Amino acid sequence: MICYNRRMEKKTSLEDIVSLCKRRGFIYQGSEVYGGLAGTWDYGPLGVELKRRIMQAWWKFFVESRDDMYGVDAAIIMNPKTWVASGHVATFADPLVEDLVTKKRYRADHLLKDAGENADGLKPEDLNKLIKEKNIKSPDGNALSEVRMFNMMFSTNVGPIASDESVAYLRPETAQGIFTNYRNVVDSLYPSLPFGIAQQGKAFRNEISPRDFVFRSREFEQMEIEYFVHPEKWQEPFEALLADIYEFLELMGLPKDKVHELEVTDADRAHYSKRTIDIEFDYPIGREELMGLAYRTDFDLKNIQRESGKNMEYVVKGTSEKFVPHVIEPSFGVERLVMAVLCSSYREDEVNGDKRVVLGLPENLAPYRFAVAPLLKNKPELVAKAREVYEVLREKYSNVAWDDNGNIGKRYRRQDEIGTPHCIVVDFTTLKDGTVTVRDRDTTEQTRVQLSEL
Ligand code: GAP
Repeated sequence: MICYNRRMEKKTSLEDIVSLCKRRGFIYQGSEVYGGLAGTWDYGPLGVELKRRIMQAWWKFFVESRDDMYGVDAAIIMNPKTWVASGHVATFADPLVEDLVTKKRYRADHLLKDAGENADGLKPEDLNKLIKEKNIKSPDGNALSEVRMFNMMFSTNVGPIASDESVAYLRPETAQGIFTNYRNVVDSLYPSLPFGIAQQGKAFRNEISPRDFVFRSREFEQMEIEYFVHPEKWQEPFEALLADIYEFLELMGLPKDKVHELEVTDADRAHYSKRTIDIEFDYPIGREELMGLAYRTDFDLKNIQRESGKNMEYVVKGTSEKFVPHVIEPSFGVERLVMAVLCSSYREDEVNGDKRVVLGLPENLAPYRFAVAPLLKNKPELVAKAREVYEVLREKYSNVAWDDNGNIGKRYRRQDEIGTPHCIVVDFTTLKDGTVTVRDRDTTEQTRVQLSEL
């Protein structure tokens, strides 16, 4: 069969991605059955596979394949002193304004950005000035309140009595679970400097206006490394980690021309950072931050040392040299990576005059590596043979789909949409000569392959 593939010129929109995710069971709105809960998202059967593969690939690349990395999995609710020491209680806040009529709340810097003004790093008084100068209104056209800072940490109470003493926070970053375990890891594994501690897990931020699908959520996952270095030797590992980040993003299938590096200016850097590079990606919503690489100095370990009274110094083996190590932090948001992978894989083609949606996921990330199908569902001999092939493949690759729903064309379209690289079809010829049809997702080419060679 000759297939005519034509890449369509349509630009991928966020709606295309959201709709595919819902239609095919990748990502649903959180608590949808009750009308949803803003800023929360649930991964469906396909999404959970994609997300896990991304997280596993990260762990393998940054932790398992290196001698200088150690993993931890710390508690989400930590001693509240953690967030006092880290500066989050005092400064982890976004500028909030209220629509004076509807009482809806917005992020002041986002409203300014939407109006084409750069508000990065501005203090509340400067934001107020700019809002007045530019006559910025709420999206409903109403006047806005003065800007006030809103702390983004979710608080809760630990134990049966809710009081000021029992207040704790859901962690807003996984990083602090690493810093607070630095001493434990050093004392139990005696790693040589430089070394890193890595963690993957949930983080929570009470975003004023969660938006753009999973891009800005209130509950999300991070994959972070704190890489501990000699105070005078941070530049070289900083550059090396930056190169590793690019290599990893290539593994994720992100096109190089959609990935950009932004040297964050003094005014825009987080309070703890002496140098930050944001890696940005061209999402359908525009060029936005995907992840960051920050030189955090000894800010965190020194804070912990001061607040806890415990010594955070590292003693260089075989010498009397000791110091509080400095830290380089690559920080990935899983949802932003999932979204970048989905956006860069999504395309619409035409095959023999039929439109199709294809998710051109890298093979190692696809929820299913193969789909196995009998040509006809109502021929027991074909079904039995296809089942045999399915079981053999499943033993080798756990992620194999069985698909006997609808005609073969429909099955191909469905597998294309969820990114399955190969469909294997068992037909009457299979029963005669032991060959199957292997159909390629990207080219739609079909080849006959001996079962023994599969
Ligand atoms: N430990 C450093 C830290 O947390 P950050 O820039 O605030 O730095 C790191 O966050 C990454 O976490 C971001 O680059 C982004 O990928 C992800 N992230 C942050 N806030 C997010 C949100 N509300 N929703 C989804 N991902 C988010």
